[in-house]
Amino acid sequence: MKKNIAVLPGDGIGPEVIAQAVNTLKAIAQKFGHTFCFEYAEIGGCAIDKYGEPYPAATHELCMKSDAILFGAIGDPKYDMDPQAKVRPEQGLLKMRKSLGLFANLRPIRPFPALLDRSPLKKERIAGADMMIVRELTGGLYFGEPRGRNESGTTAFDTCIYSKEEISRVAVRAFELAGLRKNHVTLVDKANVLATSRLWRETVKALRDEKYPQIKLDYMFVDNAAMQLVTAPGYFDVLLTENLFGDILSDEAGVITGSIGLLPSASAGESVSLYEPIHGSYPQAAGKNTANPVAAILSGAMLLEYSFGMQKEAEAVTDACARAIENGIVTEDLAAGGKAFSTSEVGEYICKAVMGKQVTPF
Ligand code: IPM
Ligand code: MN
Repeated sequence: MKKNIAVLPGDGIGPEVIAQAVNTLKAIAQKFGHTFCFEYAEIGGCAIDKYGEPYPAATHELCMKSDAILFGAIGDPKYDMDPQAKVRPEQGLLKMRKSLGLFANLRPIRPFPALLDRSPLKKERIAGADMMIVRELTGGLYFGEPRGRNESGTTAFDTCIYSKEEISRVAVRAFELAGLRKNHVTLVDKANVLATSRLWRETVKALRDEKYPQIKLDYMFVDNAAMQLVTAPGYFDVLLTENLFGDILSDEAGVITGSIGLLPSASAGESVSLYEPIHGSYPQAAGKNTANPVAAILSGAMLLEYSFGMQKEAEAVTDACARAIENGIVTEDLAAGGKAFSTSEVGEYICKAVMGKQVTPF
């Protein structure tokens, strides 16, 4: 198969982890006889520096004509320290999500068996954990209008707004995924307080009753879900929730796997889908060749599976990552006092493992 992949490395550690993901995809192309063409564009702080805006038109055009997008991270502390900054890198990410119609964000959480004792949570609690968080990504408080300040600047406001249409299109994704997993969707909301949450419940239940009667649907308040995630994570199969709750809960769920450096994600919607590690730009480590590339590489595996339907290829990537971890070829976040390998060493090991080469620890 011939496919075009837009590569947006972004800021911070984005470029170095994405380089390893691209190498892994190249290894897959070679091994399985595909042709992947990679074309690069800017987003985030590096795009502000070059073009004065965080999501330039050229980047959008490249995304729209590609078969899939591989994205690193955005964010730069120089903007975090300046609350008055007119343009911020994050606006680029939000604009990209909105203009590409990426309304469904999928964040799989599954610990690698070799890492069960690296999680700060007790091994026996997390042993059966295997969930997919489906986060609504283009609505809610992140985008609702009006937002801003009153005239004197002493009061600020954001608006949480959801339509039935926005709720049901992401719920469809959650039910479809659940059908391929354990047929269980948990809707996480705050329906005891919020009007939007009550619309979520009503809409999701009606959709289940009408189109997905075989899927078990239950509901959980977000405060309780925050507690259940770390006390009984094995309860969840597909966790469906709105934008802000999903942002918070997915970082929390990341703890289960032992390192946020292992978590990939996919954002899907109206046309082309985007794949990114959830760890963000981690500016303290930028350029040091120490960041964990596995989340970016696994995002490449999700890209192969979801956008290209390449199941075998995706498995080859996931297996190669598991081998690296089992053999202790890990970056400092997972080294636990043992030898820490660099970003590129871990990436090279994974590429060799994908190619089926005899891989000996360094
Ligand atoms: C994420 C990030 C973003 C979000 C930020 C960088 C705007 O935290 O993808 O989870 O809040 O959605
Ligand atoms: Mn987040």
